[in-house]
Amino acid sequence: MNPSRHQNAPFGSILTDKMAIATYRDGAWSEAEIRVTGPLEIHPAAHALHYGSSCFEGFKAYRRADGSVHIFRMDRHVARMMQSARALVLPEPDPARLTQMVTTLVDRCRGDIPDAPGALYLRPLLFGTLPNIGAAATPSTEAVLVVLASPVWDYFAGGMKPLKILVEEHAQRCAPHLGVVKTGGNYAAAMGPTLAARKAHGVDQVLFCPGGEVQETGAANFLMIRDGELLTRSLDSSFLHGVTRDSLLVLARDLGYRVTERVFRVDEMLQWAQTGEAALSGTAAVLAGVGTLVREGVSHQVGDGSVGPETRKLREALVAIQQGEAPDRHGWLTRV
Ligand code: PLP
Ligand code: COI
Repeated sequence: MNPSRHQNAPFGSILTDKMAIATYRDGAWSEAEIRVTGPLEIHPAAHALHYGSSCFEGFKAYRRADGSVHIFRMDRHVARMMQSARALVLPEPDPARLTQMVTTLVDRCRGDIPDAPGALYLRPLLFGTLPNIGAAATPSTEAVLVVLASPVWDYFAGGMKPLKILVEEHAQRCAPHLGVVKTGGNYAAAMGPTLAARKAHGVDQVLFCPGGEVQETGAANFLMIRDGELLTRSLDSSFLHGVTRDSLLVLARDLGYRVTERVFRVDEMLQWAQTGEAALSGTAAVLAGVGTLVREGVSHQVGDGSVGPETRKLREALVAIQQGEAPDRHGWLTRV
């Protein structure tokens, strides 16, 4: 395909015509193969359809001007996929097998990788296929592992437009022990509150702050920057440990920011927002500036309401490494 043709398509809506696939049955994985992207035959009694035994990952490959292709922090995403599989008691693919499936697919899809600032979004998906509707408390002993690929640009329509976010202090994004697991049910659980917030307040996203503690949004982590300090919630099982979050904290330290990871509450966040910056981090979101926080119907402007200079600086530092314009000092890129 000519990927630039799809530059205005919504994030993830265009797939390459090839996918990688492997199946698990009788205690063993099949050889992985590359197939034409298309429907799979799935039994309506399949475990994942009834009991939600399904998890996924999302990360990106970048093509440089010299034609070389580099995948960002694949090892961390593969490790997180294993962690999700374990939590859902799904058959765990060997990390080397999944890595091989991804690199083979990327190699076969070279012509579909957009030029920067586009990228090829990689989406491994693992789901339980055991056909047994009684297996509510029994793990799926059969599974499918697929890797899809999608040429992508901005996740948030409007590019670097500052986001408007609803502060939600009552609803939870997901069950507290599952935040760390990248499973579809968490996104289904966040969908209702997110759509309701969009309708009622015209916001882009919901920042979940159960019990008043600032956590994360439906598809990205949350961080604040003020006076040379970067503040974000400390890791626990209640939210997804973003690879972008981790990368930004490393880069922030490199750039001389003080990095603080701790629990903080909505009141403190709104205090920071008066003179500081707020942003969402994620593979899809990259680092997207927040311009407004809406709490109980009242809008609070973050800084001057635009995407702040520190947010831009950190985003640029990250993107420069991903796109090969700055040296990969931390060994985050895998060349394909
Ligand atoms: N939190 C949630 C709920 C997400 O879906 C994502 C995206 O994957 C993130 C955080 C950010 O994670 P990462 O930076 O690894 O993409
Ligand atoms: C990602 O950043 O990879 C995400 O998970 C966002 C996705 C839900 C579109």
